[in-house]
Amino acid sequence: MPSTIFAPESTPISTIEAIAHEARAGLAATPKTLSPWLFYDEAGSRLFEEITELPEYYLTRTERSIFAAHADDILHEAARNQGPAGKLTLIELGAGTATKTGILLAAAVRQQGSVVYQPVDVSETALAEATDNILSNIPGVTVRVQVADYTRQALPLNRLNNTRTLALYIGSSIGNFAPEDARDVLRNLRAQLLPGDTLLLGTDLAPSGGPNANKTVATLLAAYDDAAGTTAAFNLNVLTRLNRDLGADFDTENFRHRACWNPTESRIEMHLESLTAQRVHIPANSAGPALTIDFTQGESIHTENSYKFTTTAVEALLSSANFKSTKSWQDPQHLFAATLATAI
Ligand code: AVI
Repeated sequence: MPSTIFAPESTPISTIEAIAHEARAGLAATPKTLSPWLFYDEAGSRLFEEITELPEYYLTRTERSIFAAHADDILHEAARNQGPAGKLTLIELGAGTATKTGILLAAAVRQQGSVVYQPVDVSETALAEATDNILSNIPGVTVRVQVADYTRQALPLNRLNNTRTLALYIGSSIGNFAPEDARDVLRNLRAQLLPGDTLLLGTDLAPSGGPNANKTVATLLAAYDDAAGTTAAFNLNVLTRLNRDLGADFDTENFRHRACWNPTESRIEMHLESLTAQRVHIPANSAGPALTIDFTQGESIHTENSYKFTTTAVEALLSSANFKSTKSWQDPQHLFAATLATAI
């Protein structure tokens, strides 16, 4: 599961309305767009889990390897400004099932004997799974879940006396936001922190360029267009979701998944490209009247951006939200970075 946004198993009315608004606005626009949060219904969340285990999708296992190699150092750095009796509390934005977080929590327990962990996510189901996993595998952790959409709501941070907060925003989820939205997400987080609290930010790195580069555009493209077709199924599932939740009549056979690298914006883009000239309908619903959407052959719906960062870009993003980058860890191939930043 991603550490971003999940849709509940049975889609409630409020979610249907949000989907209807999103689809109507995005599909009536030029160029056509759909927001990536629409990916994460039950089937999409399962497909994303599969993506994270694909040989081409290096992000998840690389970030995990950075934590495995450096967790003690990361926790040590984060604890630097703590008072003598204080402990770190860990909060995690978009925690999902928190599969990689256990490595950091175990390091926190080694360092300070026990730790309070506050995962924040919109999915109660994912948080329940995270709690079960952590409580049964890492003694010394107290879990306090918070069901909230950190992208829209102020974080309901429960600050404990005499503690410092280490906020985790990992999994490269920040990369799915446009730069100004990414800054706002971090500013929203910063508003809940005190100077000296820290943030660990996971970012996927931009291709390094040059003939000996470890990370090429081809590495990136393969990660978003895998041989097994799992990312294609993940992308196309959004149309199946619109058919189910809005009664639309997309024929998924008439669209294909396309991933491309946009060097100007430093991002991978995912599109659903129309294989033919075609017309699709969305029936009238509470969000508006019946809608007819015409596609020309080759026209696409832009479904996701996944921004890739240079270390300078990470520092600039952090400083735009009043954080100062203090230390960064990368894997030996420089595919991915985990950056610790202090709230100033
Ligand atoms: C959730 N997010 C960080 C993933 C990414 O890599 O941008 C979503 C994803 N899209 C296609 N594959 C994975």
